[in-house]
Amino acid sequence: MKINKCYSTKKNYVFTEIAQKVESFKQNHPNQKIYNLGIGDVTLPLDTKLVDVMEKALKEQTAKDTFKGYPPETGYDFLKNAIVCTYAQMGIDISIEEVFVSNGAGCDVTNILNLFKDVTSVIADPTYPAYYDSNALCGNDVVLLPLNKSNNYKMSPKNLSCDKSYLIYICSPNNPTGVTLSHDDLDEWVTFANLTKSIILFDNAYQCFIEDNSPKSIFEIDGAKSCAIEIASFSKCAGFTNLRCGYTVVPKSLIRQDMSLNVMWKRHQSTFFNGVPYHIQKGAEFVLTGEGQEICKKNIDYYKQNAKILRQHLLSSKYELLPSNNSPYVWMKIPDGATSWEHFESLLQSYGIVCIPGSGFGKSGEGYIRLSAFAKREDILEACKMLI
Ligand code: MLT
Repeated sequence: MKINKCYSTKKNYVFTEIAQKVESFKQNHPNQKIYNLGIGDVTLPLDTKLVDVMEKALKEQTAKDTFKGYPPETGYDFLKNAIVCTYAQMGIDISIEEVFVSNGAGCDVTNILNLFKDVTSVIADPTYPAYYDSNALCGNDVVLLPLNKSNNYKMSPKNLSCDKSYLIYICSPNNPTGVTLSHDDLDEWVTFANLTKSIILFDNAYQCFIEDNSPKSIFEIDGAKSCAIEIASFSKCAGFTNLRCGYTVVPKSLIRQDMSLNVMWKRHQSTFFNGVPYHIQKGAEFVLTGEGQEICKKNIDYYKQNAKILRQHLLSSKYELLPSNNSPYVWMKIPDGATSWEHFESLLQSYGIVCIPGSGFGKSGEGYIRLSAFAKREDILEACKMLI
């Protein structure tokens, strides 16, 4: 046996590092109020109707006739059907066998690496740190695509070799920059992926925040079903960060080296995953109804309004903002040449404000910080007064 030495890294996962720093700050400053604009975790409580649905489902477990044991590893048909219908409403044809219910996007976007060997991953810099970290812990090769002014903060396949296949991570709107890829941008990626037999992992965790006509699913792009996997979550759109539910769509037409990725993922999930509890899936099914969507919209609007308040206020501050109306995050350049971690410390020590240092999302994030609009409105307003 050999130990995977990639785990000898001294670097913590950035959100864990921040949680530890905030905890120790709280212990040393028990009277300081904390304004948590750090991790993108929802703060609004669940709607009572949603909880009623889940409670009713849980109560079914008390009766002989409705009691349920192990859930199916890929999800109950009622939820998979609801997901299929949601795609159909967007004009996208997905079959029930292509949907895999999971306990959130984070697990799927990292565990999917089990399907590949000797992989080279393509990852935007900056972006959601789990993409890079999961690859680093597996010892995979990674090509980082720096996002900066010269490329309008958009990743593009232009500089990648066409003689190689890659695993390509795309998050749109990007976390943390908020920049959304257009139909044309995604079309370029899909064409490249089909040409090189690459696979796109499309993380659409933030699609509910898109205000313009940018694609909300990679399957809006012609040709995506032969090169893309979509990973989605109920966390941000329906407040499920504690309940835990998401899903991954692996098209049957996604074939590489004579292997069906759909069959492989089914094999993976039935071996490595235990499924999502019945009552949670019932809650997720409710979220996808008209009534559920109305309820979710209220919360999404609240977070969007938080983002607007932050952006409007910060426009006249010392920070330089990246414009984006499609994201629950505000990505800001630090004015005085301080590093991201120095600025993180300074906001925490001076005001009790928690942000995420930009370098936590990759090297190109150095000199930036990210603020989350998932915070409580009162914290956003107070933070605005201090961030000038
Ligand atoms: C973030 O803050 O970027 C995310 O919410 C964290 C996560 O989804 O794991």
